[in-house]
Amino acid sequence: MTDFSYRDGELYAEEVPLQQIAAEHGTPAFVYSRAHIERQYKEYASALADQPGLICYAVKANSNLAVLNLLARLGAGFDIVSGGELERVLAAGGDPSRIVFSGVGKTAAEMQRALEVGVHCFNVESAAELERLAHVAESCGVVAPVSLRVNPDVDAQTHPYISTGLKENKFGVAIDQAPEVYASAAASPHLQVIGVDCHIGSQLTELAPFLDALDRVLLLVDALAESGINLKHIDLGGGLGVRYRSENPPAIGDLVAAVRDKISARGLQLVLEPGRSIVANAGVLLTKVEFLKRTEAHNFAIVDAAMNDNLRPALYQAWQDIVPLVPGHGQPELWDIVGPVCETGDFLGKNRELALEQGQLLAMLSAGAYGFTMSSNYNSRPRAVEILVDGNAVHVVRPRESFEDLVRGEQPLP
Ligand code: LLP
Repeated sequence: MTDFSYRDGELYAEEVPLQQIAAEHGTPAFVYSRAHIERQYKEYASALADQPGLICYAVKANSNLAVLNLLARLGAGFDIVSGGELERVLAAGGDPSRIVFSGVGKTAAEMQRALEVGVHCFNVESAAELERLAHVAESCGVVAPVSLRVNPDVDAQTHPYISTGLKENKFGVAIDQAPEVYASAAASPHLQVIGVDCHIGSQLTELAPFLDALDRVLLLVDALAESGINLKHIDLGGGLGVRYRSENPPAIGDLVAAVRDKISARGLQLVLEPGRSIVANAGVLLTKVEFLKRTEAHNFAIVDAAMNDNLRPALYQAWQDIVPLVPGHGQPELWDIVGPVCETGDFLGKNRELALEQGQLLAMLSAGAYGFTMSSNYNSRPRAVEILVDGNAVHVVRPRESFEDLVRGEQPLP
């Protein structure tokens, strides 16, 4: 995490001491690094080299308008899964013709809006969705560009909640049923078949599952070509892992090069939908120790961030490093870092060896992806401020929520 590093005994984001941000903006606070986001995106874009294609950032990972705008300025495409994400991309200046629309449950209204603005492609996940899309396109008097999300049935060897390419998952169409669904799409005057897509899971730390999935998808591409259905692009989804603890995921360039090698001879465009690998290590969550509480079984450090700010530990038992902004001087002990929410599952980290004291400031690392976007107001906790650091400039890109924000639109009965 070169953009978050210790200098003179304190943790910095780019050129700014995080202590200064905590003092000015309070905690909990998400802090992102512009340089990191841009570098990760550019690594994808430059690895594509002369391979025609599109890097569609997965908006769900971090959908702050400032983040989307940085990526839009670099020419990124976007992978969206809802009408809300579509509006965010448009509001951030994203180009609709570079959007792929994923997701298993698109409503007719969402489809209509996406057709109006002219998205690049609908990543269709079932025969029923294809039928709905054809109706909506017909009523709008347009032809909808489609790709079919196929489920290649490969084991991504990641946490079961974020593994999506096995046949027992809800996603996509089983690859052996795909030719039939493609045939019906090709027969519709309201649909134009342009591609195929898959996404086998997230936080993948090996190349093999990506390449196994690609091999299976390429067999399908060939079989479709034999039946007269010629695709223009192949979309391998997102899923490249990052280092949270000791993982050693492939480099972005190695993944893209391996995929490029397999498809370059075919004249297909390559679409990728990376989320986590662009933003995870571009962000930290700052929090303050409110109380230290020693019990017979555990030492608890009760901090002011909680599962409503970062759900990943509670939901996936995910590990994210927790480090002091300024290392303490005492003897390190084992601490469970827990939040104020009334749930036993409300923890940010367990058994962390730290020298802690009340009032101390900590940073939960790798919090740029699936952090703020999965946050909630549970326990009527206002959501944290989001801050983007750019060199030595500090920009508040979403203020901390207020009580008014919490109850907006709520009404007692007359
Ligand atoms: N494309 C599709 C169709 C997806 O479903 C996803 C993620 C992505 C792209 C982006 O995947 P990435 O490059 O970020 O791995 N909340 C979980 C992760 C859920 C991922 C869902 N789909 C977490 O915090 O680990």
